[in-house]
Amino acid sequence: MLSELRSLLAGEPDPIANAANTAAWLFLRLPRINWAGFYFLHGQTLVVGPFQGQPACTRIPLGRGVCGTAAARNETIVVPDVHLFEGHIACDSASRSEIVVPFTIAGRLAGVLDIDSPELDRFSQPDRVLIEAVAALYAEACASSAPADAGSRASQASPA
Ligand code: SME
Repeated sequence: MLSELRSLLAGEPDPIANAANTAAWLFLRLPRINWAGFYFLHGQTLVVGPFQGQPACTRIPLGRGVCGTAAARNETIVVPDVHLFEGHIACDSASRSEIVVPFTIAGRLAGVLDIDSPELDRFSQPDRVLIEAVAALYAEACASSAPADAGSRASQASPA
């Protein structure tokens, strides 16, 4: 399954183009999801990037919601029931479970990949492994454009 995404990203370093195709590919290939997309770190704020699904909140401060918490900790968060996650930000009221995976470009946190499902406890351990691999593939494809694009944005976020 990942080889399809690898081919889609091959030879393209642009972070927006790759995020658009990755979100579209996830939405097509992962069953039972209602949102798949990217938030990019600008300073201390996550700003929505390419996605598939309902319109979403544009800005999320670091440390807020599932996305901001995953970014602040720089670790994957799987939420089996979003109603039980204190501070969850509801962009689509249909969402019941969620996974957020931070990604690093050129050694710096550059954003998160966020996927929502209308099904409770949708994301299993194998799903987590797959989605982390997707985020890593995305970041790897973008790495060669890092100084001009995502990397420079991300560098503003991290205190030296
Ligand atoms: N639920 C997220 C907000 C983003 S939307 O799900 C697209 C959160 O709590 O950070």
